[in-house]
Amino acid sequence: MGTYAVTGSASGMGEEVTARLHEAGHRTITVDLRDADVVADLSTPEGRASAAQAVLDLADGTLHGAVLAAGLGPTPGREETIAQVNFVAPTELLTAWRDVLAKTATVTGESSKVVVYGSNSTSVTPGIPKALVRSLLKDRPGTRRRVLRLFGSNAPAFAYGASKLALSRWVRNTAVTREWAGSGIRLNAIAPGAIMTPLLQAQLDGPERDRIETFPVPVGGYGDAGQIADWTVFMLSPAADFLCGSVVYVDGGTDAWFRADDWPASTSMLAIPRWLRRAKAFNR
Ligand code: NAI
Repeated sequence: MGTYAVTGSASGMGEEVTARLHEAGHRTITVDLRDADVVADLSTPEGRASAAQAVLDLADGTLHGAVLAAGLGPTPGREETIAQVNFVAPTELLTAWRDVLAKTATVTGESSKVVVYGSNSTSVTPGIPKALVRSLLKDRPGTRRRVLRLFGSNAPAFAYGASKLALSRWVRNTAVTREWAGSGIRLNAIAPGAIMTPLLQAQLDGPERDRIETFPVPVGGYGDAGQIADWTVFMLSPAADFLCGSVVYVDGGTDAWFRADDWPASTSMLAIPRWLRRAKAFNR
């Protein structure tokens, strides 16, 4: 049986994942603002550093996988906190845990598995400014603040979409490297659509209700946290040994509704030099 770190374990999808892992006989090391093995505020550098170390201490050298579910919805006035919790926290925690994930893979001879919670808002929120995504990937909070000031009431949705877009890019770029794929770690993301949890309920209780209720969900209604937890546990299983850098959409068809012809798409010939550089780095 394995040992798995789970952030955002006190509510919604993270709570369901934790329950399923326990049912299957695994050990979890949970991280949240409350009701967790590690109580920490992932929006602050101190909280992230203490959570990263506390998980390492409790793991005691063995971590078969991690689920990074902690997140904050598009809340007005909390745009920088969204960036810190949704993007900075999962990337910092995973960077801190990489060595123990790789070591566990070497010792067990089986790949370690990581599932990061993205969102279909990455591709179904129109017009997320590229500068916002870059400000996250390049750690430029000043640029982020300046860009968000331009967007008034759209700022929370853009801050949220950009945090998940940057996180998905980080997952895909990181997953395929020698330090991750090449070290026995399978790093993937899940992109839920509208899932009925306290996070979605808070949005439905606010001014966004009409927009959310008229949003196209081809299968109808909202998803259930248990459905996403089932996919997550599957992505932690040996079924994911050959899954690497994927973003798995579980959203009732919303992404396909918006982007049926946009993806999959052939890549540009201009990308070839970048592929060659990446292949060289992987094989060095
Ligand atoms: P939720 O609100 O039920 O659970 C999120 C958990 O994250 C909570 O337990 C909360 O305490 C924790 N958290 C928030 N800020 C934190 C902080 N500063 N430090 C430590 N923990 C913190 O939300 P839900 O819906 O289960 O969301 C899970 C993940 O899925 C999130 O990353 C969310 O962005 C993402 N997501 C949710 C969707 C939905 O419709 N519910 C859709 C797409 C993605």
